[in-house]
Amino acid sequence: MNLKGIKLTWLGHATFRIETPGGKTILLDPWVMGNPMCPASEKNVKRVDIMLVTHGHGDHIGDAVEIAKKHNPQVVGIPELCHWLRKKGVKQAAEMNKGGTQTLGDIKVTMVHADHSCGIQDGDEMVYGGEACGYVVEFANGVKIYHAGDTNVFGDMAIIRDLYAPEICMLPIGDHYTMSPREAAYACNLLKPKTVIPMHFGTFPVLTGTPSQLQKLVKGVEIVEMKPGQTL
Ligand code: NI
Ligand code: MN
Repeated sequence: MNLKGIKLTWLGHATFRIETPGGKTILLDPWVMGNPMCPASEKNVKRVDIMLVTHGHGDHIGDAVEIAKKHNPQVVGIPELCHWLRKKGVKQAAEMNKGGTQTLGDIKVTMVHADHSCGIQDGDEMVYGGEACGYVVEFANGVKIYHAGDTNVFGDMAIIRDLYAPEICMLPIGDHYTMSPREAAYACNLLKPKTVIPMHFGTFPVLTGTPSQLQKLVKGVEIVEMKPGQTL
């Protein structure tokens, strides 16, 4: 995998920090303080310019409001989720919807489909949060990364490949709430990535899928098993 100067750090579960060669810091699915997989040294977020949120579940937006209030990043999400985030005090919600691309800082962000639910737990209530999504991020150096969010495998991943051809894919593999390794291997047939970074596994006992199970099911795809806190 050649990131051409991009620094990519896994904070555990579906949370990634990406630092661009141009100096912007992107946080994907900000679940940091409450994330049992996030190392203690990473719990205090120091800088965020752009935040991407895939859907409203607590293990994806658990710390979005607190971090956004502190660092005032542009927060990308689907309109219903952005509406809720604004109500909670997020200032710069950069809402968009599936199929759209917007330029933020030195990246282009495309919102793509995900097949998953998207309620937001707000106290005792479950609030409508629009739909779950994934993101294809294109960097100024030409590298394209797909973060699938929470999803099962779906046939239109072939369209994501045809239109955007992301070479690096973060795919959930934990099973139970998302794809299992078996479904993720099928997703590789559709997406044809060079590299897959497995995510959303091992955080809770029910997330039983492992990178080695995925590795056994795919050929010609580099499976990069990261450790929480590790930077590539
Ligand atoms: Ni979810
Ligand atoms: Mn999840």
